[in-house]
Amino acid sequence: MCDADVSLPLLGWYDAHARVMPWRVGPQERRAGIRPDPYRVWLSEVMLQQTTVAAVRDYFRRFTARWPTVGELAAAEDGAVMAEWAGLGYYARARNLLKCARAVVADHGGVFPGDSTALRSLPGIGPYTAAAIAAIAFDEAATVVDGNVERVVARLFAVEDPLPGAKSKLAERAARLTPTERPGDFAQAMMDLGATICTPRNPACGICPLMDLCRARAAGIAPSLPRKSAK
Ligand code: ADE
Repeated sequence: MCDADVSLPLLGWYDAHARVMPWRVGPQERRAGIRPDPYRVWLSEVMLQQTTVAAVRDYFRRFTARWPTVGELAAAEDGAVMAEWAGLGYYARARNLLKCARAVVADHGGVFPGDSTALRSLPGIGPYTAAAIAAIAFDEAATVVDGNVERVVARLFAVEDPLPGAKSKLAERAARLTPTERPGDFAQAMMDLGATICTPRNPACGICPLMDLCRARAAGIAPSLPRKSAK
């Protein structure tokens, strides 16, 4: 497979089928020149770290209605933020959220730094979240690898080595697929493909935009990948 072969059909599919999410700037809006707000991208990615899209939607709407900017969130009372977070779980995320908002105001003039390295120095932003914000908000060709992306890549390349050992190999393959054009849409397209078509069980290979490129499909082993090490 030529790596560039993947992004074209995948982005074409995303243009037609991107899931609508309250934090997303969809492909049509992007084409019209609308840019994602780094604050909203950051907030959504922190909320999505250990929580499903369905559970995050209403929390995200309430947070952004109450605190529309990072400056307003930074000035909020700790107790108000913790109360608004109640029910989302993993409360260290909420404490780091406030620390991060205050660091953006105190150290960066209220503007999120625009590259993944600087983002990683902020509280609560690890390599995954930094890559997601950099790609989605700043169009950096950063590779975003979550469980959905690992599954898509394992199948595309028919990687049979089990997780978690195969993680670095899958991340390296994912990096090779990441285009310099539209890396943020590419990252979200990979996540959407993993969530809606390249699902853990019963993947819908017959309607997959990457079906002709997928080595696991060709070998008839897509549903069995990625393999997991016996515990
Ligand atoms: N999970 C984490 N970030 C996401 C995003 N931007 N779109 C869809 N699912 C996600």
